[in-house]
Amino acid sequence: MVNQPYGGRLINRELTGIERDEAVRNAENLKSITINSWVISDMEMIGTGGYSPLTGFMGQVDYENVLKNTRLADGMIWSIPITLPSTEEEAKNLNIGEQIALKGKDGIIYGTINLAEKYEYDKKKEAQCIYGTTSVAHPGVKKVYDKGNIYLGGSITLLNRPDHSQFASYYMAPVETRRVFEDLEWKTIVGFQTRNPIHRAHEHIQKTALESVDGLLLNPLVGETKSDDIPAVVRMESYQMILDNYYVKDRVRLVIYPAAMRYAGPKEAILHAIARKNYGCTHFIVGRDHAGVGDYYGTYEAQKLIAQYEKELGIQIFKFEHSFYCNVCENMASIKTCPHKKKNHVHLSGTKVRELVRNGIRPPKEFSRPEVADVLIRGMQKD
Ligand code: ADX
Repeated sequence: MVNQPYGGRLINRELTGIERDEAVRNAENLKSITINSWVISDMEMIGTGGYSPLTGFMGQVDYENVLKNTRLADGMIWSIPITLPSTEEEAKNLNIGEQIALKGKDGIIYGTINLAEKYEYDKKKEAQCIYGTTSVAHPGVKKVYDKGNIYLGGSITLLNRPDHSQFASYYMAPVETRRVFEDLEWKTIVGFQTRNPIHRAHEHIQKTALESVDGLLLNPLVGETKSDDIPAVVRMESYQMILDNYYVKDRVRLVIYPAAMRYAGPKEAILHAIARKNYGCTHFIVGRDHAGVGDYYGTYEAQKLIAQYEKELGIQIFKFEHSFYCNVCENMASIKTCPHKKKNHVHLSGTKVRELVRNGIRPPKEFSRPEVADVLIRGMQKD
Protein backbone atom coordinates (compact mmCIF):
# COMPACT_ATOMS: atom_id res chain seq x y z
CA MET A 1 0.00 0.00 0.00
CA VAL A 2 1.12 3.53 -0.83
CA ASN A 3 2.36 5.06 2.44
CA GLN A 4 0.13 7.22 4.63
CA PRO A 5 0.90 10.95 4.46
CA TYR A 6 2.87 12.20 7.46
CA GLY A 7 0.30 13.03 10.11
CA GLY A 8 -2.34 10.91 8.33
CA ARG A 9 -3.74 13.51 5.92
CA LEU A 10 -2.28 15.05 2.79
CA ILE A 11 -2.49 18.81 3.22
CA ASN A 12 -3.91 20.83 0.34
CA ARG A 13 -3.49 24.58 0.69
CA GLU A 14 -3.86 25.34 -2.99
CA LEU A 15 -6.80 27.03 -4.66
CA THR A 16 -7.81 26.20 -8.22
CA GLY A 17 -10.47 27.30 -10.73
CA ILE A 18 -12.85 30.19 -10.03
CA GLU A 19 -11.96 30.26 -6.33
CA ARG A 20 -8.33 30.81 -7.24
CA ASP A 21 -9.10 33.48 -9.84
CA GLU A 22 -11.11 35.39 -7.25
CA ALA A 23 -8.38 35.01 -4.62
CA VAL A 24 -5.75 36.26 -7.10
CA ARG A 25 -7.91 39.35 -7.82
CA ASN A 26 -8.30 40.00 -4.08
CA ALA A 27 -4.60 39.46 -3.43
CA GLU A 28 -3.74 42.27 -5.82
CA ASN A 29 -5.29 44.70 -3.33
CA LEU A 30 -3.53 43.31 -0.26
CA LYS A 31 -0.31 44.52 1.34
CA SER A 32 2.51 42.43 -0.04
CA ILE A 33 6.03 41.35 0.72
CA THR A 34 8.64 40.13 -1.74
CA ILE A 35 9.73 36.53 -1.41
CA ASN A 36 12.77 34.74 -2.84
CA SER A 37 12.98 31.42 -4.63
CA TRP A 38 13.54 29.46 -1.37
CA VAL A 39 10.31 30.76 0.07
CA ILE A 40 8.48 30.14 -3.20
CA SER A 41 9.59 26.52 -3.23
CA ASP A 42 8.59 26.13 0.42
CA MET A 43 5.16 27.54 -0.46
CA GLU A 44 4.77 25.00 -3.19
CA MET A 45 5.84 22.18 -0.86
CA ILE A 46 3.38 23.29 1.81
CA GLY A 47 0.56 24.07 -0.61
CA THR A 48 0.70 20.75 -2.44
CA GLY A 49 1.15 18.65 0.70
CA GLY A 50 4.83 17.72 0.30
CA TYR A 51 5.42 19.14 3.77
CA SER A 52 2.28 17.69 5.40
CA PRO A 53 1.25 18.24 8.18
CA LEU A 54 2.47 21.85 7.80
CA THR A 55 -0.25 24.24 6.65
CA GLY A 56 1.89 27.35 6.64
CA PHE A 57 5.07 29.02 7.80
CA MET A 58 6.06 28.13 11.34
CA GLY A 59 5.08 30.19 14.34
CA GLN A 60 7.50 30.69 17.21
CA VAL A 61 6.51 27.71 19.34
CA ASP A 62 6.92 25.25 16.48
CA TYR A 63 10.13 27.00 15.41
CA GLU A 64 11.73 26.82 18.85
CA ASN A 65 10.67 23.20 19.28
CA VAL A 66 12.19 22.23 15.94
CA LEU A 67 15.49 23.84 16.94
CA LYS A 68 15.55 22.38 20.42
CA ASN A 69 13.82 19.02 20.12
CA THR A 70 13.61 18.23 16.39
CA ARG A 71 9.84 18.20 16.89
CA LEU A 72 6.84 20.40 16.22
CA ALA A 73 5.00 21.76 19.24
CA ASP A 74 2.54 18.84 19.02
CA GLY A 75 5.39 16.35 19.32
CA MET A 76 5.66 15.24 15.70
CA ILE A 77 9.21 14.91 14.42
CA TRP A 78 10.30 17.82 12.26
CA SER A 79 13.92 18.67 11.60
CA ILE A 80 14.18 21.90 9.58
CA PRO A 81 12.35 25.17 10.28
CA ILE A 82 10.08 26.19 7.42
CA THR A 83 9.89 29.92 7.88
CA LEU A 84 8.99 33.13 6.12
CA PRO A 85 11.64 35.81 6.67
CA SER A 86 10.99 39.50 6.31
CA THR A 87 12.88 42.66 7.10
CA GLU A 88 12.03 44.76 10.18
CA GLU A 89 10.86 47.53 7.84
CA GLU A 90 8.46 45.26 5.99
CA ALA A 91 7.22 43.59 9.16
CA LYS A 92 6.36 46.76 11.04
CA ASN A 93 3.73 47.63 8.42
CA LEU A 94 2.02 44.25 8.69
CA ASN A 95 -0.68 43.59 11.26
CA ILE A 96 -1.50 40.31 12.95
CA GLY A 97 -4.74 38.94 11.52
CA GLU A 98 -4.17 40.49 8.11
CA GLN A 99 -3.90 38.55 4.91
CA ILE A 100 -0.65 39.41 3.13
CA ALA A 101 0.21 38.72 -0.50
CA LEU A 102 3.50 36.93 -1.11
CA LYS A 103 5.00 38.20 -4.31
CA GLY A 104 8.02 36.95 -6.23
CA LYS A 105 10.62 39.30 -7.67
CA ASP A 106 8.92 38.54 -11.01
CA GLY A 107 5.76 40.28 -9.74
CA ILE A 108 3.77 37.03 -9.53
CA ILE A 109 1.68 36.59 -6.40
CA TYR A 110 2.48 33.02 -5.40
CA GLY A 111 0.02 33.04 -2.55
CA THR A 112 -1.08 34.63 0.66
CA ILE A 113 -0.40 34.20 4.37
CA ASN A 114 -2.88 34.72 7.17
CA LEU A 115 -0.48 36.56 9.43
CA ALA A 116 -0.69 35.00 12.89
CA GLU A 117 2.72 35.95 14.32
CA LYS A 118 5.81 38.08 13.88
CA TYR A 119 8.87 37.12 15.86
CA GLU A 120 12.59 37.71 16.13
CA TYR A 121 14.98 34.81 15.99
CA ASP A 122 18.60 34.06 16.69
CA LYS A 123 20.45 33.28 13.46
CA LYS A 124 23.49 31.81 15.16
CA LYS A 125 21.31 29.51 17.22
CA GLU A 126 19.41 28.39 14.12
CA ALA A 127 22.68 27.77 12.27
CA GLN A 128 24.14 25.74 15.13
CA CYS A 129 21.00 23.68 15.83
CA ILE A 130 20.16 22.87 12.22
CA TYR A 131 23.49 22.92 10.37
CA GLY A 132 25.75 22.04 13.27
CA THR A 133 28.00 25.01 12.48
CA THR A 134 27.89 28.79 12.51
CA SER A 135 30.40 29.08 9.67
CA VAL A 136 29.29 31.40 6.92
CA ALA A 137 31.25 29.23 4.49
CA HIS A 138 28.43 26.67 4.84
CA PRO A 139 25.95 27.44 2.01
CA GLY A 140 22.88 26.77 4.18
CA VAL A 141 24.19 28.89 7.05
CA LYS A 142 24.94 31.71 4.63
CA LYS A 143 21.29 31.65 3.57
CA VAL A 144 20.23 32.00 7.20
CA TYR A 145 22.54 34.98 7.75
CA ASP A 146 21.32 36.66 4.57
CA LYS A 147 17.64 36.52 5.61
CA GLY A 148 15.58 39.33 7.10
CA ASN A 149 15.54 39.46 10.91
CA ILE A 150 11.86 38.73 11.47
CA TYR A 151 9.89 35.56 10.82
CA LEU A 152 6.23 35.75 9.86
CA GLY A 153 4.09 32.78 10.90
CA GLY A 154 0.69 31.69 9.66
CA SER A 155 -1.20 29.40 7.32
CA ILE A 156 -0.81 29.97 3.62
CA THR A 157 -2.84 29.64 0.44
CA LEU A 158 -0.98 28.74 -2.73
CA LEU A 159 -2.29 30.61 -5.76
CA ASN A 160 0.48 30.03 -8.31
CA ARG A 161 2.99 27.23 -8.44
CA PRO A 162 6.43 28.25 -9.69
CA ASP A 163 6.99 27.67 -13.40
CA HIS A 164 8.17 24.12 -14.02
CA SER A 165 7.36 24.16 -17.73
CA GLN A 166 10.88 23.08 -18.65
CA PHE A 167 10.26 19.90 -16.65
CA ALA A 168 6.55 19.58 -17.47
CA SER A 169 6.66 15.87 -18.24
CA TYR A 170 8.45 15.20 -14.94
CA TYR A 171 6.15 17.20 -12.70
CA MET A 172 3.80 15.55 -10.25
CA ALA A 173 2.46 16.82 -6.96
CA PRO A 174 2.25 14.32 -4.07
CA VAL A 175 -1.43 13.64 -4.75
CA GLU A 176 -0.49 12.58 -8.28
CA THR A 177 2.48 10.36 -7.41
CA ARG A 178 0.26 8.61 -4.88
CA ARG A 179 -2.34 7.97 -7.58
CA VAL A 180 0.28 6.76 -10.06
CA PHE A 181 1.72 4.31 -7.52
CA GLU A 182 -1.79 2.98 -6.83
CA ASP A 183 -2.42 2.55 -10.58
CA LEU A 184 0.89 0.75 -10.99
CA GLU A 185 -0.13 -1.43 -8.04
CA TRP A 186 3.20 -0.75 -6.37
CA LYS A 187 2.92 -1.69 -2.71
CA THR A 188 6.47 -0.76 -1.74
CA ILE A 189 8.15 2.28 -3.21
CA VAL A 190 11.65 3.54 -2.48
CA GLY A 191 12.33 7.27 -2.79
CA PHE A 192 15.70 8.58 -3.93
CA GLN A 193 16.87 12.12 -3.32
CA THR A 194 19.69 13.57 -5.34
CA ARG A 195 21.16 16.89 -6.38
CA ASN A 196 23.78 15.31 -8.61
CA PRO A 197 23.86 13.41 -11.87
CA ILE A 198 23.49 9.69 -11.27
CA HIS A 199 26.80 7.92 -11.03
CA ARG A 200 27.46 4.22 -10.73
CA ALA A 201 27.28 4.21 -6.92
CA HIS A 202 23.83 5.87 -7.04
CA GLU A 203 22.74 3.32 -9.62
CA HIS A 204 24.08 0.50 -7.49
CA ILE A 205 22.24 1.51 -4.33
CA GLN A 206 19.00 2.25 -6.21
CA LYS A 207 19.07 -1.12 -7.94
CA THR A 208 19.99 -2.94 -4.75
CA ALA A 209 16.94 -1.33 -3.14
CA LEU A 210 14.85 -2.21 -6.20
CA GLU A 211 15.59 -5.88 -5.59
CA SER A 212 13.46 -5.59 -2.44
CA VAL A 213 10.68 -3.21 -3.42
CA ASP A 214 8.18 -2.79 -6.26
CA GLY A 215 9.24 0.59 -7.59
CA LEU A 216 11.67 3.50 -7.43
CA LEU A 217 10.69 7.15 -7.25
CA LEU A 218 13.71 8.92 -8.67
CA ASN A 219 13.09 12.31 -7.16
CA PRO A 220 15.87 14.77 -7.97
CA LEU A 221 15.83 18.09 -6.23
CA VAL A 222 15.42 20.93 -8.73
CA GLY A 223 14.89 23.86 -6.36
CA GLU A 224 17.75 26.23 -5.61
CA THR A 225 21.16 24.59 -5.21
CA LYS A 226 24.58 26.14 -4.72
CA SER A 227 25.99 27.68 -7.87
CA ASP A 228 28.65 25.06 -8.53
CA ASP A 229 26.23 22.12 -8.52
CA ILE A 230 25.28 20.82 -11.97
CA PRO A 231 22.17 22.71 -13.18
CA ALA A 232 18.85 20.88 -12.97
CA VAL A 233 18.16 21.04 -16.73
CA VAL A 234 21.38 19.22 -17.49
CA ARG A 235 20.78 16.72 -14.71
CA MET A 236 17.24 15.96 -15.89
CA GLU A 237 18.54 15.08 -19.34
CA SER A 238 21.17 12.85 -17.76
CA TYR A 239 18.57 11.08 -15.58
CA GLN A 240 16.40 10.35 -18.60
CA MET A 241 19.44 9.03 -20.46
CA ILE A 242 20.44 6.59 -17.72
CA LEU A 243 16.83 5.41 -17.29
CA ASP A 244 16.49 4.78 -21.04
CA ASN A 245 19.67 2.76 -21.16
CA TYR A 246 20.05 0.97 -17.86
CA TYR A 247 16.75 0.69 -15.96
CA VAL A 248 13.60 -1.39 -16.29
CA LYS A 249 11.03 1.10 -17.53
CA ASP A 250 8.10 -0.05 -15.47
CA ARG A 251 9.98 -0.07 -12.20
CA VAL A 252 10.90 3.63 -12.07
CA ARG A 253 9.16 6.99 -12.14
CA LEU A 254 11.23 10.15 -12.60
CA VAL A 255 9.56 13.10 -10.88
CA ILE A 256 11.11 16.42 -9.87
CA TYR A 257 11.33 17.40 -6.22
CA PRO A 258 10.85 21.18 -6.28
CA ALA A 259 12.31 22.02 -2.85
CA ALA A 260 15.46 24.07 -2.25
CA MET A 261 18.64 22.36 -1.05
CA ARG A 262 19.76 23.26 2.46
CA TYR A 263 22.91 21.12 2.73
CA ALA A 264 21.89 20.41 6.32
CA GLY A 265 23.09 16.78 6.21
CA PRO A 266 21.46 14.69 8.98
CA LYS A 267 18.63 17.15 9.70
CA GLU A 268 17.82 17.48 6.00
CA ALA A 269 17.77 13.70 5.58
CA ILE A 270 14.79 13.67 7.96
CA LEU A 271 12.98 16.38 6.00
CA HIS A 272 13.72 14.51 2.77
CA ALA A 273 12.25 11.31 4.20
CA ILE A 274 9.12 13.07 5.47
CA ALA A 275 8.49 14.67 2.08
CA ARG A 276 8.97 11.37 0.25
CA LYS A 277 6.49 9.72 2.63
CA ASN A 278 4.05 12.40 1.55
CA TYR A 279 4.76 11.50 -2.07
CA GLY A 280 3.70 7.95 -1.10
CA CYS A 281 7.07 6.26 -0.61
CA THR A 282 7.28 3.41 1.89
CA HIS A 283 11.10 3.41 1.84
CA PHE A 284 13.80 6.04 1.49
CA ILE A 285 17.50 5.75 0.68
CA VAL A 286 20.11 7.38 2.90
CA GLY A 287 23.63 6.64 1.74
CA ARG A 288 26.95 8.27 2.49
CA ASP A 289 26.94 11.87 3.71
CA HIS A 290 23.32 12.46 2.69
CA ALA A 291 22.66 16.14 1.86
CA GLY A 292 26.14 16.96 3.08
CA VAL A 293 28.58 19.58 1.89
CA GLY A 294 32.32 19.93 2.46
CA ASP A 295 33.28 17.97 5.57
CA TYR A 296 30.71 19.40 7.96
CA TYR A 297 29.08 16.01 8.62
CA GLY A 298 30.36 12.51 9.26
CA THR A 299 29.85 9.97 6.48
CA TYR A 300 27.13 8.09 8.38
CA GLU A 301 25.83 10.87 10.63
CA ALA A 302 22.59 11.21 8.66
CA GLN A 303 21.97 7.46 8.91
CA LYS A 304 22.57 7.50 12.66
CA LEU A 305 20.24 10.41 13.30
CA ILE A 306 17.39 9.18 11.14
CA ALA A 307 17.63 5.71 12.66
CA GLN A 308 16.49 7.18 15.98
CA TYR A 309 13.29 8.45 14.39
CA GLU A 310 12.61 5.86 11.71
CA LYS A 311 9.71 4.12 13.49
CA GLU A 312 7.99 7.35 14.39
CA LEU A 313 8.42 8.75 10.89
CA GLY A 314 6.70 5.71 9.41
CA ILE A 315 9.04 5.30 6.47
CA GLN A 316 11.66 2.59 6.27
CA ILE A 317 15.19 3.78 5.68
CA PHE A 318 17.49 1.83 3.38
CA LYS A 319 20.95 2.68 4.67
CA PHE A 320 23.86 2.16 2.33
CA GLU A 321 27.53 1.98 2.99
CA HIS A 322 29.81 4.10 0.81
CA SER A 323 29.78 2.27 -2.55
CA PHE A 324 32.42 2.24 -5.26
CA TYR A 325 33.63 0.25 -8.23
CA CYS A 326 36.38 -2.20 -7.33
CA ASN A 327 38.84 -2.98 -10.11
CA VAL A 328 39.62 -6.41 -8.64
CA CYS A 329 36.02 -7.45 -8.02
CA GLU A 330 35.15 -5.83 -11.38
CA ASN A 331 31.95 -4.85 -9.71
CA MET A 332 30.24 -2.25 -7.58
CA ALA A 333 30.85 -2.95 -3.92
CA SER A 334 31.38 -1.51 -0.46
CA ILE A 335 33.61 -2.46 2.44
CA LYS A 336 30.84 -4.83 3.48
CA THR A 337 31.35 -6.87 0.31
CA CYS A 338 34.82 -6.12 -1.06
CA PRO A 339 38.00 -7.41 0.63
CA HIS A 340 40.47 -5.49 -1.59
CA LYS A 341 42.72 -2.56 -0.82
CA LYS A 342 41.53 1.02 -1.26
CA LYS A 343 43.86 1.61 -4.19
CA ASN A 344 41.63 -0.72 -6.24
CA HIS A 345 38.54 1.38 -5.62
CA VAL A 346 37.43 4.07 -8.08
CA HIS A 347 36.69 7.32 -6.22
CA LEU A 348 35.98 10.70 -7.79
CA SER A 349 34.87 13.85 -6.01
CA GLY A 350 32.01 15.94 -7.37
CA THR A 351 34.49 18.74 -8.00
CA LYS A 352 36.71 16.43 -10.06
CA VAL A 353 33.75 15.20 -12.11
CA ARG A 354 32.64 18.76 -12.85
CA GLU A 355 36.18 19.69 -13.86
CA LEU A 356 36.43 16.71 -16.23
CA VAL A 357 33.10 17.29 -17.97
CA ARG A 358 33.74 21.03 -18.27
CA ASN A 359 36.92 20.12 -20.14
CA GLY A 360 35.03 17.71 -22.36
CA ILE A 361 36.53 14.60 -20.74
CA ARG A 362 34.40 11.59 -19.76
CA PRO A 363 34.93 10.38 -16.18
CA PRO A 364 35.96 6.69 -16.17
CA LYS A 365 33.14 4.31 -17.11
CA GLU A 366 33.53 2.65 -13.72
CA PHE A 367 32.36 5.91 -12.20
CA SER A 368 29.88 7.29 -14.69
CA ARG A 369 27.92 5.69 -17.52
CA PRO A 370 29.34 7.04 -20.83
CA GLU A 371 25.88 8.12 -22.03
CA VAL A 372 25.49 10.19 -18.85
CA ALA A 373 28.99 11.61 -19.19
CA ASP A 374 28.20 12.77 -22.72
CA VAL A 375 25.04 14.57 -21.63
CA LEU A 376 27.02 16.32 -18.89
CA ILE A 377 29.81 17.29 -21.27
CA ARG A 378 27.31 18.76 -23.74
CA GLY A 379 25.33 20.50 -20.99
CA MET A 380 28.27 21.93 -19.09
CA GLN A 381 30.04 23.19 -22.16
CA LYS A 382 26.94 25.14 -23.17
CA ASP A 383 27.10 26.74 -19.72
S1 ADX B 1 22.26 14.73 -1.80
O1 ADX B 1 20.99 15.24 -2.13
O2 ADX B 1 22.23 13.72 -0.73
O3 ADX B 1 23.21 15.81 -1.46
P1 ADX B 1 23.74 13.10 -3.67
O4 ADX B 1 23.43 13.07 -5.11
O5 ADX B 1 25.09 13.47 -3.21
O6 ADX B 1 22.66 14.08 -3.16
O7 ADX B 1 23.34 11.72 -3.02
C1 ADX B 1 22.11 11.10 -3.25
C2 ADX B 1 21.97 9.91 -2.32
O8 ADX B 1 22.95 8.94 -2.65
C3 ADX B 1 22.17 10.23 -0.85
O9 ADX B 1 21.36 9.40 -0.06
C4 ADX B 1 23.64 9.88 -0.63
O10 ADX B 1 23.87 9.55 0.71
C5 ADX B 1 23.79 8.67 -1.54
N1 ADX B 1 25.16 8.49 -2.06
C6 ADX B 1 25.85 9.32 -2.87
N2 ADX B 1 27.04 8.78 -3.21
C7 ADX B 1 27.12 7.57 -2.61
C8 ADX B 1 28.10 6.52 -2.56
N3 ADX B 1 29.23 6.59 -3.23
N4 ADX B 1 27.82 5.44 -1.82
C9 ADX B 1 26.65 5.33 -1.13
N5 ADX B 1 25.70 6.27 -1.13
C10 ADX B 1 25.91 7.37 -1.86
